[in-house]
Amino acid sequence: MTKVIGSGVNRKDGRAKVTGTATYAAEHQIPGLLHGYLVTASIANGRIKSIDTSFAEKAQGVTAVFTHKNPPKIFKPSNNFITSKIYEARLPLSDDQVHYGGQIIGLVVADTFERAKHAAHLVKVEYETRSPIVESQKATFKKAPSMFGEGFKFEKGNVASISNAAAKIEATYTTSTELHAPMEPHAIIAQWQGSDAVTIYEPTQWVMGSQRTYAELFGLPSERVRIITPYLGGGFGSKAFPWPHGVLCAAAARQLQRPVKVVLSRRQMTANAGHRSETEQTISLAAEADGKLMAIAHDAKSFTSPVEAFTEPCTGITPAMYSAPNLRLNQELGVMNVGTPTFMRAPGENPGMWALESAMDELAWSLKIDPVELRLKNETQEHQRKKLPFSAKHYADCLKVGAERFGWQDRQIKVRSLRRDGKLVGWGMAGATFPGMQGVATVKVRLLPDDTVHVLTAGNDMGTGAYTMVAGVAAETLGVPVEKVRVEMGDSQLPDGGIAGGSQMTATIAPAVIKACQEVLKAANCTSATEACAALKQSGRAAFEATATSAPSGGAKKWAFQSWGAHFCEVTVDEEIGRLRVTRWVSVMDIGRVINSKTAASQVRGAVIMGIGQALMEECLFDPNIGYPVVYDLATYHYPSHADIPRIDVAFVGEPDLNFNSAGVRGVGEIGITGVSAAIANAVYHATGKRIRNLPLTPDKLI
Ligand code: MOS
Repeated sequence: MTKVIGSGVNRKDGRAKVTGTATYAAEHQIPGLLHGYLVTASIANGRIKSIDTSFAEKAQGVTAVFTHKNPPKIFKPSNNFITSKIYEARLPLSDDQVHYGGQIIGLVVADTFERAKHAAHLVKVEYETRSPIVESQKATFKKAPSMFGEGFKFEKGNVASISNAAAKIEATYTTSTELHAPMEPHAIIAQWQGSDAVTIYEPTQWVMGSQRTYAELFGLPSERVRIITPYLGGGFGSKAFPWPHGVLCAAAARQLQRPVKVVLSRRQMTANAGHRSETEQTISLAAEADGKLMAIAHDAKSFTSPVEAFTEPCTGITPAMYSAPNLRLNQELGVMNVGTPTFMRAPGENPGMWALESAMDELAWSLKIDPVELRLKNETQEHQRKKLPFSAKHYADCLKVGAERFGWQDRQIKVRSLRRDGKLVGWGMAGATFPGMQGVATVKVRLLPDDTVHVLTAGNDMGTGAYTMVAGVAAETLGVPVEKVRVEMGDSQLPDGGIAGGSQMTATIAPAVIKACQEVLKAANCTSATEACAALKQSGRAAFEATATSAPSGGAKKWAFQSWGAHFCEVTVDEEIGRLRVTRWVSVMDIGRVINSKTAASQVRGAVIMGIGQALMEECLFDPNIGYPVVYDLATYHYPSHADIPRIDVAFVGEPDLNFNSAGVRGVGEIGITGVSAAIANAVYHATGKRIRNLPLTPDKLI
């Protein structure tokens, strides 16, 4: 029998992607297609006094111009995370108000993209302008609302009572506004069949959620909406729910009774497709002389738009990481005239770990304790908020194995002590973590007379390797070569496969694949696929098939499920020109069982690269006068290229978490980015003696 699970199976979709035959949303060829181009606000706060569409309407090829004066018909959806969700609670074109720069205020539809774009620039708008707030220190703050049913305020013990600590750290750490910058831009094609059925080609991380949301937006039963997403070119959390452009495009297509496509420009994406809010976090740590933590306080601020309350949940990681008898968490939400922020790879965990893992490093230096040892000393076997023991936790192994692979024992325990080629050299490390999440999924498996296996589910591959994971699990369960497995995903007509978000796709789908494969054998009354295939041929039937559903085990009442990791890195700093380079990287991850070591390691590498971007260069700034983002494409928004990235050594603990699910997997998409920026800043401190608490670590901060 082929051993598939754990091995490095090549991507099922690799060839299609590199040869350009993988069809992305905007590439579907639809006859009679019209093109929509958005009209966006050039102010960031105020109202539309007048909007003149007459020139645009008369322009060549223009079919229609929609503004708040003639919005296409849309209903408000229920808007919650379980059933249906839109990213921005305010529906597009619902009134004359402008809440942020670049907000959608119209849609021009024409026979070609160029004509639609040209006509969009002919729409004349007069505004009544209020001065925008785009600087965080001027924001108005409110208590962050509960998220997924949990409030942000928490205290155990009494942090304020600590007076006898051997060391105390109190410091404020900030992160900048970051953009998802996926390779595939946000795009949609909506094609109606009459007024009561629609097919939508859109990159979505949640095919079934999208189906329900569009159904509610148009007052239709779900089965009247078909969502097709076979490929998705990077989502990172920005493609889980419909954005206003998608809602507007689908509504316009219904009214016009013609298929319409809308593709966002990179500039439009800076305002209308989400971002990670900037954050400001104050961490207070108190410890005994041996490093044992007495208290942790974590106060965070993030920022949202005036039309949606999205909180970057920074404090979620804190009760999971280190045990302290006194622990206090709080979070506030500021409102600014910027586009709506949203989930971005490890939302909350990422900035939270930046602050906490920087503070732990500061504490280690102040107590003259090795930062690895400080973490080992304080790791907690219980989630301090859920009050549950962690299942299959191997954080200590990540720290120890990582230290060994990196050669941490040779570290010079002195700042500015290492030099190479005229540059300062520094070593840093940080922990990584991400909760284990699992949803409900249904999978259909068909065994065919040509000895192939067909696996079908609506859950989709957002570029992470889900096709390959599903094929690997089916191949191993049935004992067939992985090449014999064909996987179909990303279509709402297939069985519900859950969401590709929260790093839960593998944990959600793999158990359902295992179950469906076992049931196929049962249906065939055989113990192996070979036997079943022979029986199938004899029977003359078209296929043996089974459909199975898996759901969370209920173990969440007894256990806290969480993944763990550790990063170790080396940096060089050329102080003359402020150049920081990351020169060496080791990551060790405990993510439960690893289904495919190749794609899993790729997920960690991609996440580390994204973290290096956050640490070194990623920053979306807003013009304080007009409130508009001053970065507007993949050139002005700096993110890493190959030349910025060293070889990234990735290893896994690999122990299955069988309390979590029958596959023993916890998922790997997001954890890799957590702790990365802290490891780098900690290495910069070792190299230079400068503690930098504001990301990104740009040259001006290093000179
Ligand atoms: Mo992830 S930010 O849940 O796509």
